[in-house]
Amino acid sequence: MTEKRTLQEIFSEINYEESKVPRHDMLSALIMNNGQKVANAWEWMNQRRPEIMDFYRQEVFGELPSLPGTMSHEVLSCKSDALCDQAIRKEIRITFTQGSRSRSWIMLLYIPKNAVGPVPVTLGLNFKGNHTTTLEDDVLMTGKNCAGEWVDPQRGVQCERWEFAKVIGRGFASATVCYHDIFPDFACDEAWQQSIYSVAYPDLTPAQLHEKHSAISAWAWGLSRMLDVLSSEAKIDCRKAMVTGHSRLGKTSLWAGANDSRFQVVVSNDSGHGGAALFRRCLGENIEALVTAFPHWFVSAFAKYAQADANLQFDQNFLLALIAPRPLCIGSATQDLWADPRGEFLAGKYASEVYRLFGVNGMPGDEPPAADVNIYGEVSYHIRSGAHNILWQDWEHYLSVAGKVFEQTI
Ligand code: GCU
Repeated sequence: MTEKRTLQEIFSEINYEESKVPRHDMLSALIMNNGQKVANAWEWMNQRRPEIMDFYRQEVFGELPSLPGTMSHEVLSCKSDALCDQAIRKEIRITFTQGSRSRSWIMLLYIPKNAVGPVPVTLGLNFKGNHTTTLEDDVLMTGKNCAGEWVDPQRGVQCERWEFAKVIGRGFASATVCYHDIFPDFACDEAWQQSIYSVAYPDLTPAQLHEKHSAISAWAWGLSRMLDVLSSEAKIDCRKAMVTGHSRLGKTSLWAGANDSRFQVVVSNDSGHGGAALFRRCLGENIEALVTAFPHWFVSAFAKYAQADANLQFDQNFLLALIAPRPLCIGSATQDLWADPRGEFLAGKYASEVYRLFGVNGMPGDEPPAADVNIYGEVSYHIRSGAHNILWQDWEHYLSVAGKVFEQTI
């Protein structure tokens, strides 16, 4: 990138027309850095996959934080008749301490009350605080901005995105933490200073941290720490864990799934560019828009790809392939052109070449299904009618995929 342009200039050139998508062939994730093609699952897991992981660590999302000094957790509340007596609700404070620095998050957890054995669990981060995910009015408020204020003090404003009662009804436990509490989602030095990185690396400046890390890596790491804590819950079977995320948090769930194979099912909902969408199609958001509006989501090195989308030597089917052979669900929405639904579908289809190394098919079909038709495979896909969001219709698809997978898991 030569000169920094304003978001207005960048937005004015965004392409939304399929006819203007540049001709491009699929970039195969199977071609190794030395030009040879991966021949089997062993070579993928031991040679090519590590190359792609290194690439994403150096050029895109950076390294996950290392564990600061100590991690502990404490149950702050336990309510045995939550959600009209259907659930046990817990709030668990997770604290990281190193020297004089510490940082805590509160995880909100619902567990089906009448389950016979340990249940599967779905984990995800929320945008606006735990109290915004539910109408239960005694849930602790979480989610602060860099000035220490609530990002959104209004209770229940995002409850349509969580639907805990219905998730519980399907036999799943559900856990969430507000992402701001792990890394406040703002493009400023204070955000780095108040993030988990400041506990893990107290001597590094925001600029130094940004060379190696990103907010998305901090959030992805947070999801793994949630799972660590959930392992001490007797009523939850953490071998059956599904990680979900919407939009920027869908980019995050993919990166979390790539880094932590305990996430047995990985869900990307409307994750768009930097998530499931192919950059090289140049439809909807592009890298320049991403690194200008949200530089902290990526390592600083990623900025050099701005305006180079069409000519990249990698694409997001590489990121999706890192999940293989574990089940992956990709969800899009018909009105969400910014996230390029077709590009999200195609990335899943292209990533399927890696699933085939494991003797499974990945995503069935060559063209996206009609709106509101779910397609099932090791890579599942659906495109919901409507706007950029995560709604019960999306959850239903993800839970039914996970339900089938976990039934077969011993
Ligand atoms: C912006 C951003 C997207 C992101 C979305 C979200 O629209 O450009 O990349 O996915 O926010 O997280 O809601």
